[in-house]
Amino acid sequence: MKITSAEFVMSNSNVAKCPNEPLPEYAFIGRSNVGKSSLINMLMDQKNLAKTSGRPGKTQLINHFKINKNWFLVDLPGYGYARVSKKDKKTFQKYITEYFLKRKQLVSAFVLVDIRHEPQPVDLEFMEWLGSHGIPFAIIFTKADKLKPGAIQNHVDAYLKKLLEGVWEETPPYFITSSSKHMGRKELLGYIEEINHQ
Ligand code: GTP
Ligand code: MG
Repeated sequence: MKITSAEFVMSNSNVAKCPNEPLPEYAFIGRSNVGKSSLINMLMDQKNLAKTSGRPGKTQLINHFKINKNWFLVDLPGYGYARVSKKDKKTFQKYITEYFLKRKQLVSAFVLVDIRHEPQPVDLEFMEWLGSHGIPFAIIFTKADKLKPGAIQNHVDAYLKKLLEGVWEETPPYFITSSSKHMGRKELLGYIEEINHQ
């Protein structure tokens, strides 16, 4: 898919106030600092469309971006170790949950995991929660530049094996990416285009 336009539309903590155009929507979610906002910038070939930071907890609202005037990409706050108060954490966990349960336009979630790490309970629980609500998702492995090329597939295979040992009978679609190396862009955009037309 060629990106012809990518515009920030709005930030929100209330699902009811998210854009009400009936366009297909894709949401990026994962632990704080996993690289969600960086990946969105890489996909859109823009440096600062989504705000990034080395400090976990940068994205704190539901952020809608309109792409090619015909679909939405959504940047969500990270779950996990965001340096925010317990009260704030509860609040945004609540609206993330609401977002996934109420957003009818949502076609697929993308759960981002750092390719260097073993499956983390918080990620596995989140994927199980999506599954239990029938919300389709794919996995995006991030920061592949941090591994030697020869180690990449081994890490991915070990991760997927753990999923199959758990509740999953088949592995979800997955993508190997690096925002700093522009890796996985074509595959991911191709996938979105494909499911957009289904
Ligand atoms: P929150 O909004 O805080 O939940 O974080 P996020 O998931 O949006 O992460 P963000 O994109 O802000 O990136 C976090 C840090 O990881 C930043 O310091 C990025 O530069 C770095 N980072 C993101 N993607 C990559 C990548 O592909 N490779 C490398 N080496 N670093 C990355
Ligand atoms: Mg972010």
